[in-house]
Amino acid sequence: MYVILLLLTLILVYLLYSIYSYGAKPFSLFKSHGIPGPEPKHFIGNLDSFKKPRYLLEKEWCKKFGSVTGYFIGRNPYLLITDLQMIKTIMSTNFANFRNRPFDVPTDDFTELFLMNTKDQYWKFLRTLMMTAFSNKKLKESLYLMKVCVANFVTNISQDAASGKEFCINQYCSSYTMDIIAATGFGIEINSQMNMNHPFVLHAKALFKPGFLKYLIALTFVFPFLWHLVNVYIILAGERKHRNFFAAICRNTILFRRNNPEIVPNKDILQTMLEAQANLQGAKTENQNVTDQYGLSDKQIIAQATMFLLAAYENTANTIAFLAYQLALNPDIQNRVYEEITEMVEGDVTFENLQQLKYLDMCLAEVLRLYPVSPRTNRIAAKESVIQGWTIPTEADVVFPIYTIHHDPEIWPEPEKFDPER
Ligand code: HEM
Repeated sequence: MYVILLLLTLILVYLLYSIYSYGAKPFSLFKSHGIPGPEPKHFIGNLDSFKKPRYLLEKEWCKKFGSVTGYFIGRNPYLLITDLQMIKTIMSTNFANFRNRPFDVPTDDFTELFLMNTKDQYWKFLRTLMMTAFSNKKLKESLYLMKVCVANFVTNISQDAASGKEFCINQYCSSYTMDIIAATGFGIEINSQMNMNHPFVLHAKALFKPGFLKYLIALTFVFPFLWHLVNVYIILAGERKHRNFFAAICRNTILFRRNNPEIVPNKDILQTMLEAQANLQGAKTENQNVTDQYGLSDKQIIAQATMFLLAAYENTANTIAFLAYQLALNPDIQNRVYEEITEMVEGDVTFENLQQLKYLDMCLAEVLRLYPVSPRTNRIAAKESVIQGWTIPTEADVVFPIYTIHHDPEIWPEPEKFDPER
């Protein structure tokens, strides 16, 4: 009897110890490397601080703990770096060790193909390929497509402005951006500006509102084995239908182009990839090993095209809307922008005279500083390295808090002020 009781007690102690170790194990990581940060709690790390938005927490922590700060979301270690020289070293000289992005959101057999989710050599290959779609020549060729969308944009806001009623500029900017993306990326004229409830815009908006999903994802940071639950939820809740909508458009456009070779399409993003696919087939290229391993299948092209649509949409729409907002708040700056455009753009807008709009460019840069569309960007440390005396542990999620840096009064005096002259 005593033996059984002793055995049961030992098992219980062992179980409790294992649970304790599971909950405490990762949290000594930063301390052991002398990296300061907020005190993590068992199991949840610093998740309980997240009643505030993450970008504000990061700003507070960097102010309190300095230019290198470690924190945890669940068991995941995050290393915040605001030292500009260190960021430069990581993203240039030491980039080979920090090339890959972490997987913060669940991927499936489609989204894992997105450029930002690919790794190492294949990422490099795809990235180089995609860059060719953004050469000056390609942008010049797309300008006439953008002008059609601009004309619709101006007609719409002029009508509303003339009516004297309040209107939501953000809605116009969203549809305007979507029209440009569809036209320049896929050669499709959707004219969503004439219909604010256009399925293109509604599906894109739905994709950027993850709702309940974000709480489920937070749970996986504490219990990583719950990933499967997230994927089941995504399927059951129909979350995939929005991205499938865009994937279907890309698929149909590819089919249309293949079935109608006599119609010469624009050199848009989709066409750049289709031509690369044709060139790669059977060709001996510098990237032969990589293409042998992965290829550039239709599915991969559709995934990249869908990702482009999503990566380009909200960032651009919000930046234009914030610019309009700041110009409305600052009539003097607005007048200067207007005068510059009137002076530099005589008659038609061209790629060349757009380059002359230096003050407008300064205004855009200041909008991106004040409202960075991405409050942070991050990379995974492939192996341990020492940079400026700081040890960056293997697998640490290295975070560059863009919002914090852009609002640092030591770099940008009066950081909340819109001042394009900085
Ligand atoms: C105001 C507009 C935009 C802003 C502020 C913006 C910002 C950013 C930022 C901060 C990143 C992360 C960079 C990094 O971690 O290295 C990023 C990545 C990316 N952006 Fe944008 N973006 C904008 C517009 C666009 C547009 C128009 C497109 C496509 C046509 C696009 C496609 C991408 C892609 C594909 C990536 C991932 C690149 C990679 O993994 O190599 N973005 N963007």
